[in-house]
Amino acid sequence: MTDSNLPDKNLGEENSGGLKKRNKQKKSKEDAWKLDGPKDPFAMLDALPEEKQQEIQRALHLFSLGKGLPRTLEEASRRPYPFWDTQPVPKLGDDNATTHGPIEVDKVSVREEPYSLPQGFSWAPLDLGDPAVLRELCALLNENYMEEDDNTSRFDFSPEYLLWALCPPGWLPQWHCGVKVNGNQKLVGFIAAVPTNIRIYDTEKRMAQVHFLCVHKKLRSKRMTPVLIREVTRRVNMQGVYQAVYTASGVLPKPVATCRWTHLNTLQYTAITISSCVYSGLILKTGIDPNPALSLSFPFCQAPKTAGLRPMTRGDVKGVHMLLQGYLKKYHLAPVLSQEEVEHWLLPRENVIDTYVVENSAGVLTDFVSFYTMVSRVLNHPVHKGLKAAHSLYCVSSSTPLPDLMEDTLFLAKSKGFDVFTVLDLMENTSFLEKLKFGIGDKSLHYYLYNWRCPTIGLKMVGLVVL
Ligand SMILES: CC(C)(COP(=O)(O)OP(=O)(O)OC[C@H]1O[C@@H](n2cnc3c(N)ncnc32)[C@H](O)[C@@H]1OP(=O)(O)O)[C@@H](O)C(=O)NCCC(=O)NCCS
Repeated sequence: MTDSNLPDKNLGEENSGGLKKRNKQKKSKEDAWKLDGPKDPFAMLDALPEEKQQEIQRALHLFSLGKGLPRTLEEASRRPYPFWDTQPVPKLGDDNATTHGPIEVDKVSVREEPYSLPQGFSWAPLDLGDPAVLRELCALLNENYMEEDDNTSRFDFSPEYLLWALCPPGWLPQWHCGVKVNGNQKLVGFIAAVPTNIRIYDTEKRMAQVHFLCVHKKLRSKRMTPVLIREVTRRVNMQGVYQAVYTASGVLPKPVATCRWTHLNTLQYTAITISSCVYSGLILKTGIDPNPALSLSFPFCQAPKTAGLRPMTRGDVKGVHMLLQGYLKKYHLAPVLSQEEVEHWLLPRENVIDTYVVENSAGVLTDFVSFYTMVSRVLNHPVHKGLKAAHSLYCVSSSTPLPDLMEDTLFLAKSKGFDVFTVLDLMENTSFLEKLKFGIGDKSLHYYLYNWRCPTIGLKMVGLVVL
């Protein structure tokens, strides 16, 4: 990414101009993240019983009064992007690019000092090796990283999951940027980048994969996000990396690819789970028919049918690496992983990542499937407290037909206690979605490249899963 000098008008530090402007800037800088109005509206909201809070949030969601990102390109084209318009990303109105390359040339020198924060806040070094720090990060994300706009559920990240997601080979502690309140040292903002090699069409680039952007819910709409993004960009640039890849369910300037979530309730074959789906509300949104009759009509396998299917072990790393790298070559957007990275991302870790390989009678690995664990808390529901979802990562089949392999995978996920199996409709996943009765979700996932222009990539040519 690059260290843009263009100002985001709402950030005190980057505003330039005369004295009048500077005075205004000082005021806005000090007040930037203070709560508005005579009374703290969040305190008022917090004072209400949780059920009431959720009712209000659901109503806001229903009438689309929330300030979230636009969900469609059309909606997005009607609004300005004061921050993103200052960044080296293609504009929403730009024609589909025909050229490939960086939007800004690599900087000769990168700003050394961190971006300044409003009074009362500081950048916090986060040593994830320290269990207390890890717990603090879990607390921020689990309280504030809302999964559903209507606040019916929240992710429940475990320390093990965060270490897996945030500390792959080559990770740098300074790429985990936290913001704390000086007074009480509470962590209120976070953004992370991890290093990765990405191939976009024919170009391989060292990039930052940016994720876990999170601002405490009481500090929303106060422009903390642009500061977090600028600061992580600066820290990434310091390492001579100028491109990044990231995803969001909302529309920003400008998606390089877009896909959709699809879901399967792996336990829909039992009455218990049908009711769990209905009540949790999560599965209903995926379009799965909660009618129990459906559960009886699906011929769900009683045991895996693929001979040689077994959990991946350390000895399989080389074979899985070869299969994966060979497979990903056909995509226009894909990671280029080392053996060490394959070991990190795919070797099974309890409640984090599961990978199963197929070994043929000659001892050769022919296929593998992998899925990671995402646990959510279902909020304020009388019966259902949690949801354990398996998210498909990479699946490669050179011998077993993918639908058969996935059917076995669903059985394995079910037997490990997963409630839902979630898949993006990219790579070859569409080959089994219909057959295995996956339901199309109501959310898109947009892929973005920072400081890189290239033609839009069709979803069938996307070979990258960003956590
Ligand atoms: C996403 C989140 C950090 C945005 O915070 P916010 O308080 O609404 O936004 P801020 O006032 O700080 O900043 C607004 C700017 O950030 C941008 N922005 C908002 N969400 C963004 C995202 N997910 N990725 C990149 N930029 C984003 C907005 O477009 C806006 O820039 P613009 O002026 O160019 O339009 C906050 O809603 C949050 O923590 N949500 C829960 C976790 C989450 O969904 N994270 C994103 C995962 S992709």
